[in-house]
Amino acid sequence: MGISNIFDSSVTCKQVFDLEGFVNFYLQLVNKNLNYLDVRSINTSLISVAVADELNVPGFDLNLLKYGSLLYDIGKLMVPAEILNINRELTMSEFDIIKTHTISGYISLNNFSFMLKEFKMIALTHHYRNGFGYPKKITFGEEIDPLFANIISVADSLSAIMEPKKYKKDMTVDLAYSIISDKNNERNFGLDDKILDVLKFVIEHNKIELKKYF
Ligand SMILES: [Fe+2]
Repeated sequence: MGISNIFDSSVTCKQVFDLEGFVNFYLQLVNKNLNYLDVRSINTSLISVAVADELNVPGFDLNLLKYGSLLYDIGKLMVPAEILNINRELTMSEFDIIKTHTISGYISLNNFSFMLKEFKMIALTHHYRNGFGYPKKITFGEEIDPLFANIISVADSLSAIMEPKKYKKDMTVDLAYSIISDKNNERNFGLDDKILDVLKFVIEHNKIELKKYF
């Protein structure tokens, strides 16, 4: 994905070029080391932007979402690959280890001076789900942007459930949506109803073309 005509004059050219190189490097790195995370990240970005566009989110914020949602799972680089690549349901202790990727993602991005605050917050809050998810406490003295956090939570849920794993059958986007919008499924607690409705519209009107895993 190239970066062009993005952001506004408050973001310098150097920041844009640093960001472009960083995102490309990151996607290549996860492609080599973590099952499916590059495709999953690209799909999360595509879904997030399509939903935000339908909500008339302005262009600058669309670009924040676009690139923030490509980097949102960067903390998984700090999780042992043998846990991330498990092809079965996770145990509680394995899941607790994976949960740390939100905080470590924030800390990782915070090491780069060109990294915008919004990208760090997307990494930190993409599983927060209005307090139903994790981390339970948002640290670092940061304020949550509920729109960004809710869009990314829904987009991540859809792209995650479509990720191929041995214990799941191939899944269509319609079936994936029906699962993540099922109010009786406790895994969906905290997903925003309005964002889910917009995603339904986006899917029904073929406004997203997700990248295929194979
Ligand atoms: Fe995540």
